Amino acid sequence: MLDTNLDKVGIAFRGSGSYIPEQILTNADISKIVDTSDKWIKTRTGISERRISDKNESVCQMGYEAALGALEMADWSSETVDLILLATSTPNDLFGSAPSIQAKLGAKNAVAFDLTAACSGFLFALITAAQYLRTGTFKRALVIGADQLSSFVNWGDRGSCILFGDGAGALAIEACSDSNNLYGFTLKTDGYRGGFLNLSISDDQEEIIDNINYKKGKYRNITMNGQEVYKFAVREVPLVIDNLLKQENYKSCDIDWLLLHQANQRILDAVGDRLDISKEKVLTNLSNYGNTSAATIPLMLDESIRNKKVKQNDLIVTSGFGAGLSWGAALFRWG
Ligand code: UT7
Repeated sequence: MLDTNLDKVGIAFRGSGSYIPEQILTNADISKIVDTSDKWIKTRTGISERRISDKNESVCQMGYEAALGALEMADWSSETVDLILLATSTPNDLFGSAPSIQAKLGAKNAVAFDLTAACSGFLFALITAAQYLRTGTFKRALVIGADQLSSFVNWGDRGSCILFGDGAGALAIEACSDSNNLYGFTLKTDGYRGGFLNLSISDDQEEIIDNINYKKGKYRNITMNGQEVYKFAVREVPLVIDNLLKQENYKSCDIDWLLLHQANQRILDAVGDRLDISKEKVLTNLSNYGNTSAATIPLMLDESIRNKKVKQNDLIVTSGFGAGLSWGAALFRWG
């Protein structure tokens, strides 16, 4: 527990980690199963290949590996962690997967739970964890984003199967009494437009006994109206970032890195252009991994930290967006 003046509790970023599955599925591979081409996918999305979990990999295993990386970078023992938040839409266990990561890590003093907000999940989990730290409830948190959308993709739908891949990322954040590196945030949802992107339960029914039916515990494949999601992203993301920067008295030229949910290179380019942030400052690894849902932001950040692109004290604006519809932004300094 943090013993300090609550008005002064800030957030520090101490470590990051990530995990990507071994199996690589290229655009050429996909063009063998649906009517598409490497050229079309690269031009329309910027994606060249994505990773697919095999039978030994899962959200729990990927999330665990990512969390381990974050713990090591932070130089924390797992027993000092108070909170583990797992952002995922594809848990191993619908009753919650975070506690199993807690057990694997040996984080016996932590409370662990799942949070679902699709591709905005990591951002929502980061802000949720930060609230516990800022109120003095907890001192150390691991925030994990992990997804295995390959299990729910319709591999016969060329309009969506080209986009998604599997992976995980994690951050170690800490309550800090003498400084604050998480400046501000905005979170939004609009359930009225929720029908544009879904991974919903199937309507299939079976009878338990005469005239008493139950819905089978089965999920449909992902369904997506790509054009509408695209329009939503290029309209709402620049707006939410612009408003956040104004609120925190920053200009887009102050930003070192624009860290967007990795959905489509054209969305990244359009958002960067609208905010007048140059291409060199827009972080991207879409080409290698596609859209890994809740994992994209921490995975991108971890790679950029480990290859020394993002440095201590760099100012980063991040935005997650996706199903719900849900979106939001946060402004922070690394370190
Ligand atoms: O986390 C959020 C997750 N979702 C997203 O980020 C989705 C955002 N949306 C997108 O990224 C894009 O809308 C897509 C990449 C999904 C599609 O790109 P688009 O430029 O919006 O294509 P479109 O849907 O307007 O389709 C253009 C044409 C159509 O053919 P016609 O009707 O013009 O003859 C499609 O049938 O491209 C066709 N098409 C394809 N052709 C080859 C659609 N998918 C493919 C494909 N290969 N994979």
